[in-house]
Amino acid sequence: MNVVSSVFAKSPSNIAIVKYWGKHGNQLPNNPSISFTLSRCFTETHITFKENGGDSYNMEFLFEGKDLPKFKEKIDKYLIDNQQYFGFLKGLDLKIESSNSFPHSSGIASSAASMSALVLCLLQIENIVTQSVTPLDRRKASFLSRLASGSASRSVYPVMTLWGATPSVPDSSDEYAVPLANMVHPVFKSYHDSILIVSNKEKSVSSRAGHSLMNGHPLAEQRYQTARQNTERLLKVLQSGDIQEFMTIAEAEALQLHDMMATSTPPYRLMEPNTLKILELVREFRKETNVPACFTLDAGPNVHLLYPDEYTTQVQSFIKDDLLQYCHDNQCIDDMVQSDWNK
Ligand code: PMV
Repeated sequence: MNVVSSVFAKSPSNIAIVKYWGKHGNQLPNNPSISFTLSRCFTETHITFKENGGDSYNMEFLFEGKDLPKFKEKIDKYLIDNQQYFGFLKGLDLKIESSNSFPHSSGIASSAASMSALVLCLLQIENIVTQSVTPLDRRKASFLSRLASGSASRSVYPVMTLWGATPSVPDSSDEYAVPLANMVHPVFKSYHDSILIVSNKEKSVSSRAGHSLMNGHPLAEQRYQTARQNTERLLKVLQSGDIQEFMTIAEAEALQLHDMMATSTPPYRLMEPNTLKILELVREFRKETNVPACFTLDAGPNVHLLYPDEYTTQVQSFIKDDLLQYCHDNQCIDDMVQSDWNK
């Protein structure tokens, strides 16, 4: 039999409010994290496959039509390290083609979107190969995505997700993320995330290296403890809709993430002068206008400006008039929370 079959998946990026920073074992987090699932930054992946008559798999990988050896190596390593879950790939030739909705040189970490899209495709291949009609098991998708990239575990549910065992959420786990949509106040379901692209360069220190610098970090235990407390605080805020408290937690988490970098051995800094300028302007804007816009940061220099839908016009003018000048090529990606998968 030499039939060519194909599968497709689209999966979004996410932005953490409580940050995952530090891990152990096979991609297990040292503290829980909570994120917004985004809607406009996503990866689309097509996989075509056919039997090759052998007993191992071959894989070709194209990103936006071009070979990307670094990413192919990452996928190969993932499939080999976790081969107990991917026995169904034996004897297949796979052609993986992936593309992002956002400019790939925008400096936006894409591993959450790309690895979860890959896993969603692999689960469809499993169904086809094993002739099963099992509906998509999102918990399994989250588990397998986590093994590829911790933050990818949070991209398989809309609205908001929690990854990491947390006492007040009984089904939460370090092994997979759980959806929070049912516990979230409506104001957060249409939250905006305008991503201010301060730099589109590759980070000088990768997230993988950053996580490992948390091992032996003198402030690590304190950080994990704070993140656990912030997780419980944020869960309450998400229910009550207390935007002021939300902003306090979001900004503290962002700054603490970067403090961990500054106090690692060796110390490093991913924020740039324009990052700091934008943070300052956001705080001034909030003070002067009372518009509840706050920032968060990923492991990089770009600023995520978070605000409720009803303030869109005011915040958009602020971005255009005061912030774009500090962005690389005036670049800003206007994203918002993915409120449901059908949109
Ligand atoms: O999933 P990783 O290994 O790329 O780590 C992500 C780390 C942060 O983006 C900084 C925080 C987070 O929780 O997403």
